Amino acid sequence: MIVVTGATGTIGRALIEELGGEVRAVVRRAEQGEELGCGYVVGDLEQPTSIPLKPGDRLFLNSALWPGFIDAHMAVIDHARAANVAQVVTVSVRGVTSSSLLGFGMHGQVDEHLKASGVPWSILAPVGFMQNLAGDVDEEGRIFGSYGKGRVGYIDARDIAAVAAALLTHPIEADDTYELTGPTAPTYDEVAAELTRALGRTVRYLDLTVEEATAHLEKRGMPSQAAHDLAELMSQIGDGRWASTTTTVADILGREPRSLREFLGS
Ligand SMILES: NC(=O)c1ccc[n+]([C@@H]2O[C@H](COP(=O)([O-])OP(=O)(O)OC[C@H]3O[C@@H](n4cnc5c(N)ncnc54)[C@H](OP(=O)(O)O)[C@@H]3O)[C@@H](O)[C@H]2O)c1
Repeated sequence: MIVVTGATGTIGRALIEELGGEVRAVVRRAEQGEELGCGYVVGDLEQPTSIPLKPGDRLFLNSALWPGFIDAHMAVIDHARAANVAQVVTVSVRGVTSSSLLGFGMHGQVDEHLKASGVPWSILAPVGFMQNLAGDVDEEGRIFGSYGKGRVGYIDARDIAAVAAALLTHPIEADDTYELTGPTAPTYDEVAAELTRALGRTVRYLDLTVEEATAHLEKRGMPSQAAHDLAELMSQIGDGRWASTTTTVADILGREPRSLREFLGS
């Protein structure tokens, strides 16, 4: 059985669709399972034993970031190990380590735990999702950031789901990390131009220093330390660490990942 956590999320919904009927979704409320229209169980990552796992099952482990993320994900990995699951496929972030800032560091810690767990693993390590871009545009048509001229190979989360589906249904691959990107890596000025074209109104990228971005995020209600770390993270991304694209999606799926223009037009 393929067991899918985070089933109601952006990747999860696309994955359920990719997999068809042969799946058990883990949802927090029965109505969510009914709405998904597939086999489901009500469970919570914070209560690992609420997720029924049997020897040979293949687990897709994903959720959003929250303060209990590290403990919950580690406990579910231990639960999967004890249940003798055949494989864990999970979603992290490209290039993170346990000492990365904010959620990136959380992922780095969980990744280390998974790699040491003894469970066969596949870590999907994408960069930013195209799905988030339009929501970053404010009422005045601006996107803020401290990315400078940095490039990011934005990916359509549906391509992440398609890769996950392939890894969960084909013979199990050796343990590996899959760095996933879209086909090109635009600058934020170029992203703004694509959004302008797609939304039919002018979108501008406003580049801020780390200090300016921190103040901007604080003004939006983010606590000071988190605001500073997020601004710093944006400037780290701007240093080019997400600028190269990979061929991983095409290598696994036999087709190119969706471009930003295709995504925005779909
Ligand atoms: N967004 C990006 O640009 C980006 C880039 C790289 C990596 N990532 C990573 O991608 C992941 C997010 O994927 P996504 O966008 O598909 O997620 P998402 O749309 O935010 O959905 C999160 C899913 O996790 C479920 N969930 C949250 N807490 C849970 C819990 N305690 N027990 C069970 N289920 C729980 C949610 O269920 P409910 O419906 O019940 O809330 C939902 O199904 C994160 O790890 C993030 O760091 C994101």
